[in-house]
Amino acid sequence: MTGEPRIGDVFGELLRDAYAVATGIGPRPLAGGRLPRPVIEIIERDDGLVNGAPAAHYLDGPADWQPYDRRAVDRVRGATLDVGVGAGRIALELQDRGVPVTGLDTSAGALDVCRRRGVRDLVHGTIDEHVADGRRYDTFLLLGNNLGLIEGRERAPAFLAALAALARPGAQVIAHGTDPYGTRDPVHTGYHEQNRRRGRLGGQLRLRLRYRELGTPWFDYLVCSPDELGTLVRGTAWRLADVDDRDAPYYLATLRLAG
Ligand SMILES: C[S@@+](CC[C@H](N)C(=O)[O-])C[C@H]1O[C@@H](n2cnc3c(N)ncnc32)[C@H](O)[C@@H]1O
Repeated sequence: MTGEPRIGDVFGELLRDAYAVATGIGPRPLAGGRLPRPVIEIIERDDGLVNGAPAAHYLDGPADWQPYDRRAVDRVRGATLDVGVGAGRIALELQDRGVPVTGLDTSAGALDVCRRRGVRDLVHGTIDEHVADGRRYDTFLLLGNNLGLIEGRERAPAFLAALAALARPGAQVIAHGTDPYGTRDPVHTGYHEQNRRRGRLGGQLRLRLRYRELGTPWFDYLVCSPDELGTLVRGTAWRLADVDDRDAPYYLATLRLAG
């Protein structure tokens, strides 16, 4: 035994357990043999910082959402791809509103939870893999901080190109991001500095997620300012059309297909 986690479907397992705790359906993780335990997502950063975040909010209905999530959903129009659909909280609301929505995720377990909660149209894989399926969309959602999926300077052009290949004329991307640079916490400002010295964007996080005995491989997840996003988008098929930062440091970025 090395103390290293076994690589597995971390999101899937924690969403299944969060669903079981919330509904009583399926085996629940037990503490002390009887009491259902709150499900905590463990986020490790490559400087040794460890954070825990309760997973129950992935199941929340609109009444418990943050205001920017509601504003994001109000901006949706046409055929919509929810990228990184998670437990389907956004897709379910869109279905209720009669919006044709497809949920895409790399986690088989997350899609299983979505299915059990009633999300009808689901795709397992990455956006790059989905291009070949021939489906096309008017709106792409990157919610729950999923702007992070653009990873950094290297991945951003290919990520945005894959979205453009999936786009109908006039399509939009609505992405939830967090501006990382308001903090004075030296643990974070020092990390940003170290990243820049390595040629990375300040908020280009190197993370792995853990749940129980499972872990993900290390991956990059971008937390960037709206200005940095504007720079990443320049020269791609998209333009940064709007930034709604009413809930700063959180913001909703809207990208529109250029031309
Ligand atoms: C932070 S959760 C957000 C879930 C959901 N959007 C929400 O707001 O509740 C991230 C989700 O993205 C999925 N994911 C991670 N990397 C992905 C990728 N490259 N392509 C598609 N989905 C991905 C994860 O499995 C997880 O379900």
